Amino acid sequence: MIETVTELSRLRGVVSGWKRDGLRVALVPTMGNLHAGHYSLVKLAREHADKVVSSVFVNPTQFGPNEDFTRYPRTPEADTSGLEQAGCDVLWLPTVESMYPFGVELAANVHVPGVSSLLEGAHRPGHFDGVCTVVSRLFNQVQPDVAAFGRKDYQQLAVIQQMVADLAFPIQILGGEIVREADGLAMSSRNQYLTADVRPQATVIRKVLLAARDAYLGGAERVAVEQEAAARLQAAGYLVDYAVVRMPDLSEPGSSHEGARVALVAAKLGNTRLIDNIEF
Ligand code: PAF
Repeated sequence: MIETVTELSRLRGVVSGWKRDGLRVALVPTMGNLHAGHYSLVKLAREHADKVVSSVFVNPTQFGPNEDFTRYPRTPEADTSGLEQAGCDVLWLPTVESMYPFGVELAANVHVPGVSSLLEGAHRPGHFDGVCTVVSRLFNQVQPDVAAFGRKDYQQLAVIQQMVADLAFPIQILGGEIVREADGLAMSSRNQYLTADVRPQATVIRKVLLAARDAYLGGAERVAVEQEAAARLQAAGYLVDYAVVRMPDLSEPGSSHEGARVALVAAKLGNTRLIDNIEF
C-alpha cells in the first residue's frame, strides 16, 4: 500500500528507517498528471532500489511568466492509484511553502552554467535554474541512492547529470527510455492541450526525427539535415524553436559523422509546445 507523505519530518523518518535496514532508496521526481512514461520510470527505479519514493510537485520556479503553471493539469487521485500500481512505496507531496520556506523570490538558486543555456535554456530562460533548484531540494529531502528521469527531456537529464557531478550528490542518475503513443507521439502531460484539429499533425515530429537520423547517417551534411527537418515541421504547421543534430553533450558536432549523436526538436503545434529527440 502506498503512503502519501506531506510532512518532511515524516518523509525523513520513513527513509531513515529504510536506510537503517540497509535498503536502497530511489526517487522519481514528477510534476504529476502521470502517464505511462512516468510509470515506466517507477518500474526502472524499482529495478535499481528496494524502495521507491515519487514526488509530485508542480514547481513554480521552472515556469516562465507566460507559460502554463496555473493551467498545468493536476490529477492527484489518478496519480496516487497509478503510482501504487506501478510499485511506488511513498508519494511525497511537498507544498510550495515547504519547498521554498523563504518564498520563491528569496529561494537559493541552483544554476548549472553551460549546458543550461543552450536549446531549451535559450528558449525558456531560467527554466533549468528552476529545475535544478527544485531537484536539488528533492535530493536533500529524500536523500535517495538513485533517481530516475525521462530521456524525452534529454537536456534536462544532461543538466541534472552535470549538477550531480559538480555538487557531488552521492546519487546514481538513471535515464528512462521515451514512452510513445501507438502513432509515435512521445508521451507528455502537455499532449492533452493538443486540440483535435492539430492532433494528427503531432505525429510528424517523430517522423521528422527519424528522417533526420537516416539522412545524417546516410552522410548528409548536418546543417542541411537541420534545415530540412525545420522545413518539414513548418510545412506541417509547426512553429519551430529548434531542430538540431548534436553531440551527446549537446555541443555542435564537427564535420565527422563518427560516433554518437542526438537529434532534438522543440516546436509549437497550435498552442502546444512539443519536444522530442532521437539518440543514434
Ligand atoms: O521533468 C519534470 O517533470 C520536472 O522538470 C521535474 C524533474 C519533476 C522537476 O520539477
